Amino acid sequence: MKTILCVIGLTSLTLSIPAQNKIPVYLDDTQPVELRVEDALSRLTAEEKIQLLHARSKFSSAGVARLGIPENWMSDGPHGIRAEVIWDEWNQAGWTNDSCMAFPALTCLAATWNPEMAALYGKSIGEEARYRNKNVLLGPGVNIYRTPLNGRNFEYMGEDPYLASCMVVPYVQGVQQNGVAACVKHFALNNQEIDRNAVNVTVDDRALYEIYLPAFKAAVTEGKAWAIMGAYNRYKGQFCCQNEYLLDNILRKEWGFDGVVVSDWGGVHETESTVYHGVDMEFGTHTDGLASGAKNAYDSYHLAAPFLNLIKSGKIEEKELDKKARNVLRLAFRTTMDRQRPFGSFATPEHGLAARKIAEEGIVLLQNKNNVLPIRLQDTKKIAVIGENAVKVMTVGGGSSSLKAKYEVSPLDGIKNRAGVAVEVTYARGYVGEAIGTQDGLKTQNLSDNRSSDELIAEACRAAQDADYVIFVGGLNKHGYQDSEGKDRKELGLPYGQDAVISALAKVNKNLVVVILSGNAVAMPWVNEVPAVVESWYLGSEAGNALARVLAGDVNPSGKLPFTFPAKLTDAGAHAAGDYPGNNHEETYREGIFVGYRWTDKNNIKPLFPFGHGLSYTQFAYGKATVSGKHMQATETLTVTIPVKNTGERKGKEIVQLYIGDEKASVARPVKELKAFEKIELAPGEEKIVSFIISADDLKFFDDKRHEWVAEPGKFTIYIGASSADVRASVAFELK
Ligand code: BGC
Repeated sequence: MKTILCVIGLTSLTLSIPAQNKIPVYLDDTQPVELRVEDALSRLTAEEKIQLLHARSKFSSAGVARLGIPENWMSDGPHGIRAEVIWDEWNQAGWTNDSCMAFPALTCLAATWNPEMAALYGKSIGEEARYRNKNVLLGPGVNIYRTPLNGRNFEYMGEDPYLASCMVVPYVQGVQQNGVAACVKHFALNNQEIDRNAVNVTVDDRALYEIYLPAFKAAVTEGKAWAIMGAYNRYKGQFCCQNEYLLDNILRKEWGFDGVVVSDWGGVHETESTVYHGVDMEFGTHTDGLASGAKNAYDSYHLAAPFLNLIKSGKIEEKELDKKARNVLRLAFRTTMDRQRPFGSFATPEHGLAARKIAEEGIVLLQNKNNVLPIRLQDTKKIAVIGENAVKVMTVGGGSSSLKAKYEVSPLDGIKNRAGVAVEVTYARGYVGEAIGTQDGLKTQNLSDNRSSDELIAEACRAAQDADYVIFVGGLNKHGYQDSEGKDRKELGLPYGQDAVISALAKVNKNLVVVILSGNAVAMPWVNEVPAVVESWYLGSEAGNALARVLAGDVNPSGKLPFTFPAKLTDAGAHAAGDYPGNNHEETYREGIFVGYRWTDKNNIKPLFPFGHGLSYTQFAYGKATVSGKHMQATETLTVTIPVKNTGERKGKEIVQLYIGDEKASVARPVKELKAFEKIELAPGEEKIVSFIISADDLKFFDDKRHEWVAEPGKFTIYIGASSADVRASVAFELK
């Protein structure tokens, strides 16, 4: 016995502590995680293990209270920490302390082409999750942009597997440095919302491995993600949450994933296949209608009573239960039971600044004829801002990624604040989109307006005609069919008659800037009528400030498109060759590996705006590319260099992109594929030499017969450019 004398207030107490005061291994964070896992597991009853495997409220699962193992609390993701909902309802709980910082949508993050921005994003949102006591962030999403109609593209990182891989890794690492697991979603092939709960995707192995899996693989093998979410759809006839091919063969065996697989909400449909091949944790509203609305609904989840019964009856061995329980315990030791993890912070000015920086780097200047932009504020008396999206709340909506933001600066307010009192900023609606005042359980604005479109256009034109600049802010809006979960868009065109408004404005004012807020490509039949077009995404809390700073030239735009803007829908492979959205729950990705620019390159299609495109207020001149050798052995690397010079008058950032094409191969290959990029900043007149290292890995395709990556000897061409369609230099070499 060891005796300590404690003095509390005026009384003194004698406490006795047993000499054998060794804490159990599972509580001892000086012990290796695997030892702690085994120790904890050995103390659990089958019932306690089972309770780890399924939800017991909308976003939480039980821990083991008896042993001090905490509950798991999850939150969407991926753009901010979602507001609290009622225990077992989707309705908001009405807390007053859960208004988060809204970060830009992941399309914007991808458009920065800057892994440092992804690290900042991950770190910041991870801090918010940690502060709110969430140990799993349901994000990021890395499903590949296959069709511009997919309602959830705004939550993903574009069409290119290499770009998405480069951006997802630092995001995951940033989140997890807070002791919060990133749950990468939706694994896999969830590339559309129509029929998402049933569609069975047929895709060849080359497309699977070369296009749809790399970002997930990077998140797991390089980012070391602690969690991954199974998708709703099916692959090879099996639901993704109970999919032997995806979860056992690829995720666990090929990639060595040791984290926890979480189901998408309601994505589990059967008990035994889930036990043997499926997720470790089952979440959802209800499961197959089994338990919808019932009291203790969660007991009926496949990974609850049905699983326990199979064990009790001896039909399934307890070792299957242990496998899953281990993964959940590992999650606890990495997150809630890591005493070293930081405490986090929430909706701070630092996070506001991070959100603004990411937004500013992601905004893409698509077109800027006659250098209409930036706005010369010193010579400006009047700016007319037109369009519903200039005033519409955009952090709310879109489905599960909807946020209750601490604040959101609208484009109109951002422009007004930046323009200052010396400039008159007028506003006209232009068109009426969605008027309702509630969305995703949150009160927003009531934007109803009974005027006819002719009246609205006439008013907009009156406001526009004597303005120095007209800023039209439109696009999509995260309502159903307009970039929203569960509902794909119905067409590529802009909704609510916006095309007519833009054309009318172009007739009355030549200084027209069209700003599109969207997470998807949109058709632009008026593109030749307007001088300037800006893609401004969904930018979160700092939206208006970031946009205004780019329009005013405080920030020189440096974002580039993470996906192709096709001129028409059938210019996208999924629509020209594929059978999107499928028939009778079956869909074949017939375009195979030819997604995005791989499709337009192959078919010589001129997109409206190509992948990788984005302008600056300055210009960059590319010099001659050189390569360190004309021949390369498979074990060697080559260095490619190119000088890039800022020939304009402003400091700016350029994203130098390197693509590689295999000149002759035994299989069909894309004309070229992105294999490296570098975002550099240059002062006026400054030149930098950008260098890239190429290895045989960059030359490989996935050989589906041998089930391995192969680089075939022969000639390759390296293309370096400012976009996938703006190649400025090329060099050739031969792989021996
Ligand atoms: C979505 C997930 C989300 C989950 C929880 C599902 O409907 O597909 O992305 O994380 O709901 O809100």
